[in-house]
Amino acid sequence: MANNKARILVVDDEAMVRRLLCQKLSREGYQCQEADGARQALAKLRDDQVELVILDIKMPGKSGIELLPEIKTGYPDTAVIMATALSDANIITQCMKQGAYDYICKPFDLAEVLLSVEGVLDKRRLELEIKKYQQHLEEKVDEQTKEIRKVFLGAIEALAFALEAKDKYTAGHSRRVTEIAVAIGKEMGLSANDLEDLRWGGLLHDVGKIAIDQLIQNKPGELTAEEYEHIMTHPHVGAGIVKPVVNDRVVEMIEHHHDYYDGSRREQDSDGEGIPLGARILAVADAFDAMTSDRPYRSAMSISEALSEIKKCSGSQFDPAIVDAFYKIPVAGIVLAEA
Ligand SMILES: [Fe+2]
Repeated sequence: MANNKARILVVDDEAMVRRLLCQKLSREGYQCQEADGARQALAKLRDDQVELVILDIKMPGKSGIELLPEIKTGYPDTAVIMATALSDANIITQCMKQGAYDYICKPFDLAEVLLSVEGVLDKRRLELEIKKYQQHLEEKVDEQTKEIRKVFLGAIEALAFALEAKDKYTAGHSRRVTEIAVAIGKEMGLSANDLEDLRWGGLLHDVGKIAIDQLIQNKPGELTAEEYEHIMTHPHVGAGIVKPVVNDRVVEMIEHHHDYYDGSRREQDSDGEGIPLGARILAVADAFDAMTSDRPYRSAMSISEALSEIKKCSGSQFDPAIVDAFYKIPVAGIVLAEA
């Protein structure tokens, strides 16, 4: 029988009772241990794996009723059968509510004890199997959710790169912005999770440009107010595109990556630290890469010109703390390596 090798702990202050139960159960193939009270019981539970405890309700010191919740919390996979000489229905009900599987009454009918033990061990085994199956299912669902998310993100990322690749002015922009932003984040001591968010924010920050009129985006001359407004819808559009597959921090980062630190852009509703940190980092990285790349309406600035422009806008367009961190990273190395 599957349960015959089960380890059973008999907790009772009366040595005779313990011996009687252990003899009977051992004869049936169970591995029995004895404890004369709560303290010894907890020590044995700590040291050995026990599948079932037969727990006397009335013991000197800590009673079985008091010990039961401790066993259920500390050893949730251990089943408990209460043993009682009391025929108090309230106490028995209380024990069953607290997680006891069954109860047996003194003086014991050993055949009934055996039936109870077998029934409880069967129930416990089934419960553990269901638990294991549920855990396995949850892991499977988790794994598949991650896989689906990865595929979606990969598709959006590919879309963003394809969008940039067909335009010689923006080819490689998101990759470079990501590298600069992550370098700033590392300089600022951001956590691995925050850096991962920053990476996704950088790669996807301009994906909303898919909705922007290419003629306006590549217009060689100065933009009208209306055209500028149209281009500036891309952070909001991009945030909407990525929302189903990235976390809220990345969505916010994309939504706000053109916000000015001093709150002076008409479209923004927050300023300073109210703008998500990732968006403030992306703003510097994005501006630097845009300035050092050719645009339809102007040629690329030199690195030193772009650096001094960033410095000039510290406190107005950019967060000064991020500009400081940006100045500490090997910017030239990153940009030139990608050029
Ligand atoms: Fe942008």
